[in-house]
Amino acid sequence: MSNNSASFTIRQLDIASATDLQILSGFCQEWAQSDRFWNTDEVVKSVRESGAILLGLADKSGLIRGIAMYLMAGDVADLLYLYVKLEDRRTGLGEVLLSQSLEALVKRAVQSVVLEVRHTNESALRLYAKVGFARLTIRPRYYRDGDDAVIMEWKAKGE
Ligand SMILES: CC(C)(COP(=O)(O)OP(=O)(O)OC[C@H]1O[C@@H](n2cnc3c(N)ncnc32)[C@H](O)[C@@H]1OP(=O)(O)O)[C@@H](O)C(=O)NCCC(=O)NCCS
Repeated sequence: MSNNSASFTIRQLDIASATDLQILSGFCQEWAQSDRFWNTDEVVKSVRESGAILLGLADKSGLIRGIAMYLMAGDVADLLYLYVKLEDRRTGLGEVLLSQSLEALVKRAVQSVVLEVRHTNESALRLYAKVGFARLTIRPRYYRDGDDAVIMEWKAKGE
């Protein structure tokens, strides 16, 4: 890993802030080009109506280099999405973002995190395994295009 974890901090993005909305929109524009993810309005709706939170990985200059979106439900969180910009990939940022966001969730009393990921998403599957997620099951044809989902779970230490 070339990026040092100590150089980054996790900051919750506030969709009521014009600055944070602009940051989110920058990520959404890239999402739209690189894969099939949500647009800014859908993310904002999810935060407003479903209790999702957006955690950004800020570098020393305050620039947000990656985003994680979690749905909070008591002491369980659902990792809805994790994203590092294309130009920053494979430099360790995804791992720092995931590890530090999990630490931030534990501080909010979260005990376990679940997620679903396409069975073909090798980079994400490897990252999740590296950070300590275990495979629970496969959901066949979970996605609209017929792709299977791998369901994974991470438990806070001591659970
Ligand atoms: C998945 C994602 C967040 C990884 O971010 P990243 O910053 O490139 O990952 P890192 O550099 O921190 O890599 C950490 C580990 O992840 C795995 N990994 C990441 N990219 C990989 C790739 N292209 N191929 C194989 N393994 C990969 C490796 O285990 C790696 O550890 P290693 O470097 O010791 O081999 C990034 O590829 C991304 O944003 N993808 C698009 C969105 C997405 O698919 N999100 C997950 C769906 S929920």
